[in-house]
Amino acid sequence: MTASTIKLGVNIDHVATIRQARGTTYPSPREAALLCERAGAHGITVHLREDRRHIQDADVFELKEALRIPLNLEMACVREIIEIALRVRPAEVCMVPERREELTTEGGLDVVGQRDAVFEAVRELGEAGIAVSLFVEADPQQLEACRESSAPYVELHTGRYCETEGAERDRELQRLIHGAEYAHRIGLKVNAGHGIHLSNIDGILRIPHLDTLNIGHSIVARAVLVGMEAAVKEMLSAMARYGEGGS
Ligand code: PXP
Repeated sequence: MTASTIKLGVNIDHVATIRQARGTTYPSPREAALLCERAGAHGITVHLREDRRHIQDADVFELKEALRIPLNLEMACVREIIEIALRVRPAEVCMVPERREELTTEGGLDVVGQRDAVFEAVRELGEAGIAVSLFVEADPQQLEACRESSAPYVELHTGRYCETEGAERDRELQRLIHGAEYAHRIGLKVNAGHGIHLSNIDGILRIPHLDTLNIGHSIVARAVLVGMEAAVKEMLSAMARYGEGGS
C-alpha cells in the first residue's frame, strides 16, 4: 500500500477499561466499535488479556457479530486464548507477549526464543482461516523467524520510538524504517503500532510499506475530550426536566 492508503485499526481496549473500573455495563465496546466503523476506521482491535483486565470474552464474540470491518484479536500465545480465537474466528490475530504486572504490552514477541510454540499457533490459526500477525521489534533476526513461521504479517513495535526524544528517537525511527524494508523484502506484510498519537505520527508516516497502524490509547483519550461538551449538554438537558411534574 502507498502512504495515502494506509489503514487504521482502532484499539478499543480502554473503552472497556472505563467500564471495568466501575463494574458497569457502559461504555459498551460494541457501541464504540460501531462509531469507529462509522467514522471510517478500517478495523477494530481488542486485546483479550489472560487477566481480563479490560476486554471480556463476551465482548470479542459480540464484536465479531456486530462489525462489518475486520476484527483483529491481540493475544498471548497461550492455549486458553488460542481456543477462544478458534471459536471466534476473527479476521486477524496479532500475537503479543504478555506479562501480568505490565501496564501495557512491553517489548515485542520473542519469536526466535519461542519458536516451537509460536510456529504451532501460527499454523493452527492459519488453518482456521485467520490471518496471523506477530508483534515484534524491528530486528532482522526476529523478522526472519516471523517469515519462517509462515505468518503473513508482522506488526512493528513503535513504542520505543514514541517514548523517546531527540537523537534516540531518530535512531529508533531509522531502526523501524530498516525493519520495515527488511520485512517487505522477505515477503512479510507490515503493520505498526504502540504509543502513536497526533504529535508523534509524522515520523511513523515515514516508515515504508505500511499496511495498517493500530492505535488505541490516544484515540480513546482524545475521544474523552472531544466528546466532553456533548456529554455535559446531554446531562444538562436531562436535568432541565427538574420540576416538570414527577415526584
Ligand atoms: N499494537 C499492539 C500489538 C498492542 O499491544 C497495542 C496496545 O494494546 C497497540 C497496538 C495499541 O497501542 P496504544 O494503545 O499505545 O495505541
